[in-house]
Amino acid sequence: MMKTITIKAIAVFLATSLMGSAALAQTSVIHAGQMINVETSRVEKNQYIFIEGGKIKGVGSKVEILSMEGANDAKFIDLSAYTVLPGLSDSHVHLTADARVHGYKQLTISTPRAAITGVVNAKLTLMAGFTTIRNLGAPGFADVDLMHAIEDGDIAGPRVIPAGRSIGITGGHCDNNLLPYEFHETAGGVADGPWAVRAKVRENNKYGAKVIKFCGTGGVLSKGTKIGAQQFSFEEMKAIVDEAHLLGLKVAVHAHGEDGINTAIRAGVDSVEHASFISDAGIKAAKKKGTYLSMDVYVSDYILSEGEAVGILAESLDKERLVGKKQRERFQAAVKAGVKMAFGTDGGVYPHGDNGRQFAYMVKWGMTPMQAIQAATIGNADLFGLKEEIGSIRVGKFADIIAVDGNPIDDIQELEDVDFVMKAGVVYKVTP
Ligand code: ARG
Repeated sequence: MMKTITIKAIAVFLATSLMGSAALAQTSVIHAGQMINVETSRVEKNQYIFIEGGKIKGVGSKVEILSMEGANDAKFIDLSAYTVLPGLSDSHVHLTADARVHGYKQLTISTPRAAITGVVNAKLTLMAGFTTIRNLGAPGFADVDLMHAIEDGDIAGPRVIPAGRSIGITGGHCDNNLLPYEFHETAGGVADGPWAVRAKVRENNKYGAKVIKFCGTGGVLSKGTKIGAQQFSFEEMKAIVDEAHLLGLKVAVHAHGEDGINTAIRAGVDSVEHASFISDAGIKAAKKKGTYLSMDVYVSDYILSEGEAVGILAESLDKERLVGKKQRERFQAAVKAGVKMAFGTDGGVYPHGDNGRQFAYMVKWGMTPMQAIQAATIGNADLFGLKEEIGSIRVGKFADIIAVDGNPIDDIQELEDVDFVMKAGVVYKVTP
């Protein structure tokens, strides 16, 4: 006889046994009232999903699934009143960053403190329905250790693809420019010159980075950098990309200004983060090369409304006023042109767990709800090089599955409040 679990019963089960150990991955069958198929762009009714060993073993009708060996003894998860979709992913967060700590306040944060912040934020992110994230820059290699702690089952969190230290020029957006000369403060990822940047890539790889992040222009939140100014020459960018690709790592570039964006695309980066002032030529180049754009079109609202209170520098607020609106317009142009779009939010600049708020902005600025969901699932999976593992509810992939009580195709804001979260077959969240 099949053991039936309504979502209320799972809540009890969760409360008595919480934490993320692989030992909790159970053989289960989900009944999805509706399921968003991100591969066919369809919403399918009454789908059954058979999960074993943390992976998806079958997807189909009740009869198809219940005739599979072992399905009748599985835990039954009744999501018949819900819309089920693949676990979401975010291509750009900083788990170790606290949105209440910006500007000079950051100088008081040690790397161990940042790692503890990361533990809290990893859980918030997972509970928001984000089962995979790229962590694009962390002090030391705190994000690598977060990845290990999550994999070992010590803490609950999403799959983490860590960048370790962001690579950048002396005095650039990825350096730390807050202190005067006599402190000789230099961020860990600073390097100048083609061979020096290659060495940084090798070091990041040595200490566990799974993606390479570098800064190709100035930024909003850094002191003394110009958003429009390119950072690194073509030679340096090319060296970073070549070295990373030799090592089997993808490359994400932080770039707002059009020159930095164009040069980075030409150097062969896999994704452009922010891409705020991307030109028509840049859009064309990205489309031709298959470069993903990871445009954080929500965060501007947080920076402009909360920025002063949380310590964001006045010069940064001035820069944000130039970037926010323009970035949304360029996002719209890129969507219209059919460029590959990732779902990346810069979580940590705004509070972790609010990642889902960006969906409504992406829809407001030109995407259909289905496209926005695809960006955060199958699109990101492709960008991460994990298309066979995550991103859709398909046989053989990890059972990363979430559910909401409405239909996000009708109201995308449903994704701001996720009711059910499963990662690799382990249930982490149920809202009774
Ligand atoms: N980390 C980015 C920077 O400092 C944040 C940019 C946020 N603004 C935006 N409109 N996306 O440059």
